[in-house]
Amino acid sequence: MVKKKRKIGIISGKGGVGKTTIVSNLGAALAKKFNKNVAVVDCNLTTSHLSLSLGMYYCPVTLNHLLRGETELKEAMYEHPSGMKIVPASIRLGEIEGVDSKKLKHVIKELHKKADIILLDSAPGLGNEAISAIEASDEIIFVTNPNIPAVTDVIKCKEIIKGLGKRPVGVVMNMVSKKRHELSRKEVEILTELPVIASIPHDNNVQVSLAKRSPLVLHKPRSSASREMKRLAGHLIGIKEDTSFKGRIKRFLGTD
Ligand SMILES: Nc1ncnc2c1ncn2[C@@H]1O[C@H](COP(=O)(O)OP(=O)(O)O)[C@@H](O)[C@H]1O
Ligand SMILES: [Mg+2]
Repeated sequence: MVKKKRKIGIISGKGGVGKTTIVSNLGAALAKKFNKNVAVVDCNLTTSHLSLSLGMYYCPVTLNHLLRGETELKEAMYEHPSGMKIVPASIRLGEIEGVDSKKLKHVIKELHKKADIILLDSAPGLGNEAISAIEASDEIIFVTNPNIPAVTDVIKCKEIIKGLGKRPVGVVMNMVSKKRHELSRKEVEILTELPVIASIPHDNNVQVSLAKRSPLVLHKPRSSASREMKRLAGHLIGIKEDTSFKGRIKRFLGTD
């Protein structure tokens, strides 16, 4: 039985592996395709991109204000056209001053009264920002690219989350091109001792959707990366991909 209330941290040791892309697309898929009450939170306070990746360029009140104790949650929560809620972080450097990332856990607790599934977009690395995101989560998804440095950092993060008593859900491999020099799914599973729960292809449409200010699953629902991200969203809530003829046709047409 999959729990209804979830707080899932999306983390990586290495930066630029695709956490923000995955959070915005999983959020959009869970809200739009699976009709879930989902919220996404930008826990990457120093280099925040989540609202930008969702095309939401103007968010006057943010998580920064909440972490400074200057406002209430409802003021810093926005609704994306997909139906998901978003708590953005400020994109202005000056806004980092006075922010207490230890308060994140309380913000997330409060948000959990308004959303069943919360996806936390973490900062990379193992600094205070990332640790705060891990501490505010119950479960962790690790994001990696199919190369040794990124996977090595997942192994480090795994040690940390174990020490903090969080449940590892699995590893998402992103930007997979299936080139010979890349680590395979099997190799990543052996190295991390975790299941690989998705393998998202490298897809140029990700960049296009960023420019179009829309998550890929909405902008190009039939693209290869979209299909895998929607499958992952379903997997997280215990819904298996419909492999019947009708299901495959619907996926092909992008109407599922
Ligand atoms: N599957 C993919 N295919 C192609 N480009 C991708 C893919 N996933 C992410 N990207 C691009 O890689 C860059 C880093 O992704 P991002 O989600 O910002 O990573 P992180 O949040 O881990 O730093 C962005 O420019 C993003 O558009
Ligand atoms: Mg990011």
